[in-house]
Amino acid sequence: MRKIAIIGGTGIDNPDTLKGFEKKIIETPFGKALCNIGTMSGNQMKSLGTEEIFATTAVGSLNPEMKAGHFVVCDNVLDFTKSRINTFYDSPERGVAHCDFTYPYCPTLREKVIKCLEKTDITFHKHGVYVCTEGPRFESAAEIKMFAMLGGDLVGMTNMPESILAREAEMCYTNCSIVTNMAAGISPTPLSHKEVCDAMALSIKNMEKLILSFIAYEEPTEAKCNCHHAMQEFGGFKL
Ligand code: HPA
Repeated sequence: MRKIAIIGGTGIDNPDTLKGFEKKIIETPFGKALCNIGTMSGNQMKSLGTEEIFATTAVGSLNPEMKAGHFVVCDNVLDFTKSRINTFYDSPERGVAHCDFTYPYCPTLREKVIKCLEKTDITFHKHGVYVCTEGPRFESAAEIKMFAMLGGDLVGMTNMPESILAREAEMCYTNCSIVTNMAAGISPTPLSHKEVCDAMALSIKNMEKLILSFIAYEEPTEAKCNCHHAMQEFGGFKL
């Protein structure tokens, strides 16, 4: 049985999808997290003991090819967050560790998501560079121009530090971003949270379809990743 965690971004919280799931508050060193725990298609979504994390997120687009409603299975990250705790390795017990992050998203999980998307009629892109900003404000037009010059395709506020924390915790992590708007300065109108939520509402059915298909995915996939041994050099990750 695969143990899967879904991190639902804006709008991915339909209680009907998670019917019969148990709501549980999990205590973590960073605070309490409300999780829905249950079994779907014979697979368990579990916050403790999870081996695979599939995160969904709303993003603005810097790339004219990536339009509202398109799904993007990102393959790299530019981290512009500023004041978030971004490592588990900052205590005297754990010491300091420098984790490989050449490819922030798990290649094995990326392939699973891409295979699931190929079975749908959803318009999607197999590659994309996700720029993570601190927020909560949207970006300025000049920042978006700079991110585009640096090679960014999409901008959002959620993928960092969750992707590096998953890597340090030796879990496979991948993302599927949903374009909700063109980014600041590219969009002809000022951005609003309502615009993002309204656009997300149009893609919810597609995202639910993808999540269910990802959970039910049974085809053997060749493990291409080292995620479960990412911290071997430092004695492995210990809770
Ligand atoms: N910027 C940052 N985060 C976002 C955006 C955006 O344009 N759209 C959806 N999430």
